[in-house]
Amino acid sequence: MEKPVLLVTRRMPQAVEARAAHDYEARLTASDTPIPDLLARAQGTDAILTCPGDVFNAALIGKLPDSVKVIATFSVGHDHIDVTEANGRGIAVCNTPDVLSLATAETALLLILTASRRAGEGERMIRARRWHGWAPTQLLGVGAAGRRLGIFGMGRIGRELARLASGLGMTIHYRDVVRLPSALEGDAVYHDNDASFLAVCDVLSLHAPGGGSTRHWLNAARIAQLPRGAVVVNAARGTLVDDAALIAALHTGQVGYAGLDVYDGEPKVNPGYLALENVVLLPHLGSATVATRDAMGFLALDGIDAVLAGRTPSNLVR
Ligand code: DGY
Repeated sequence: MEKPVLLVTRRMPQAVEARAAHDYEARLTASDTPIPDLLARAQGTDAILTCPGDVFNAALIGKLPDSVKVIATFSVGHDHIDVTEANGRGIAVCNTPDVLSLATAETALLLILTASRRAGEGERMIRARRWHGWAPTQLLGVGAAGRRLGIFGMGRIGRELARLASGLGMTIHYRDVVRLPSALEGDAVYHDNDASFLAVCDVLSLHAPGGGSTRHWLNAARIAQLPRGAVVVNAARGTLVDDAALIAALHTGQVGYAGLDVYDGEPKVNPGYLALENVVLLPHLGSATVATRDAMGFLALDGIDAVLAGRTPSNLVR
């Protein structure tokens, strides 16, 4: 029996490529960046496995061949895919929820600690050979215990972060469109408005989805409502932050430190961040553990398998 044809738009973990090649006539890709000939390579395919950075907007989706039945993204975020347009063409969209929640929450925690304890500055100091030995007042930061962590977007990743940060003695506050059921909420304090939420964020960690409705949510007006010297962390989507406003606040000290893993327009990074010592910058490695990336690939392939077999996948984006 002929295997269905699968276009893989990026180099994937080896175990994921092996499964794709076993189950499909897989058109694999050696590239870590978007391929220029995607449309040509999509001709005659039944399914596409892609990832953030490969933009499937209305124009591109409109040009896909009718044979394509499913696009699976190797990510939980799907703001790079016009899902309405895809569904309108009879193309299902799948993503990779759950399997990356812990890894991404760990990255947010890493940023909280790295920013608050000034570890990025320390690392840069050693590499620049500017460290002349231990000193009582050197690189004094702030600890986690007893501080209030505000989580904007209390989905699976936000809740994992709440669990990890509680273990460090932080108190958890959250803002979301709806309050969680008490079994999921635990000891976290819900805020039904931005003003009361922002006022308690010694540390603010962003975990909302990207897209138009959250674009530049963290703007100058909201930054002004944070406690002075707050720490801001973003391991969700760069579009949540108005970079000019955050950079200005890092200069004045209204935001004491920031930790960023994602950027508006990435891989471009606003040059204003690069000159600042009180920012730690990571290259979107939120979910980047070996086991997590394998699990993401397998879940994306599960979704493709299901759609092509006429079943509704558990990871269908609705
Ligand atoms: C996602 O899954 O959306 C992440 O940003 C990729 O790690």
